[in-house]
Amino acid sequence: MSAEDPIRELGRWIEQAREAGAPHPAAVAFVTVGAEGRPSARTVTLKRLEDEALIFTSALWTRKARELAANPQVALLFHWPSLGRQVHITGEAELAERALAEELFDARDPAHRMQTIVSRQGEQIESLDPLRDRLGHLARVQEAPPRCPEDWGALRVRPTTIEFWAEAEDRLHERRLFERAGEGWASSLLAP
Ligand SMILES: Cc1cc2nc3c(=O)[nH]c(=O)nc-3n(C[C@H](O)[C@H](O)[C@H](O)COP(=O)(O)O)c2cc1C
Repeated sequence: MSAEDPIRELGRWIEQAREAGAPHPAAVAFVTVGAEGRPSARTVTLKRLEDEALIFTSALWTRKARELAANPQVALLFHWPSLGRQVHITGEAELAERALAEELFDARDPAHRMQTIVSRQGEQIESLDPLRDRLGHLARVQEAPPRCPEDWGALRVRPTTIEFWAEAEDRLHERRLFERAGEGWASSLLAP
């Protein structure tokens, strides 16, 4: 791999996964660190790539958002099994500007927006039925699509390392590590 800019290269890999028909090509395991250094993971969807960062969205009352507020260190892991590729990223997350959250919320399809309003993600519930009732009610009475809730936001992850892993038939897989070096990136090859 001859990439000079690993974030652009990540964008190419996601696009190639999409073209190859990989399911959820932009899905990524997102790992945060909680109290007493305990890690927690969940799948999220990459919403956008910027020159220096990855953008995600999340409700801000959730475990991931609480953990990030206390400790911004994250690890991300993309995996496209059908392409024999993974990308491992470490970096720091911060809450992005409100305008970006609103833009990304408004870009969601209406059903997805309503689901966000109706369900307090992560709260313990007795049953899904009241949520279904509220969703049905909202769908009937809501005339305009819901606006971005105050406690819903966009997260910006600035990578400090990005490792591209590509499977090889002889099992000598290519592992290309990019590490932040000032304004640019230093790259090296790791043994598989
Ligand atoms: C394919 C897939 C994509 C997902 N995308 C997102 C997402 O972009 N943002 C999000 O907050 N949750 C997303 N989820 C749900 C999360 O995995 C998780 O259940 C939720 O965010 C709560 O996590 P937390 O309690 O650790 O904060 C997705 C789940 C799957 C399976």
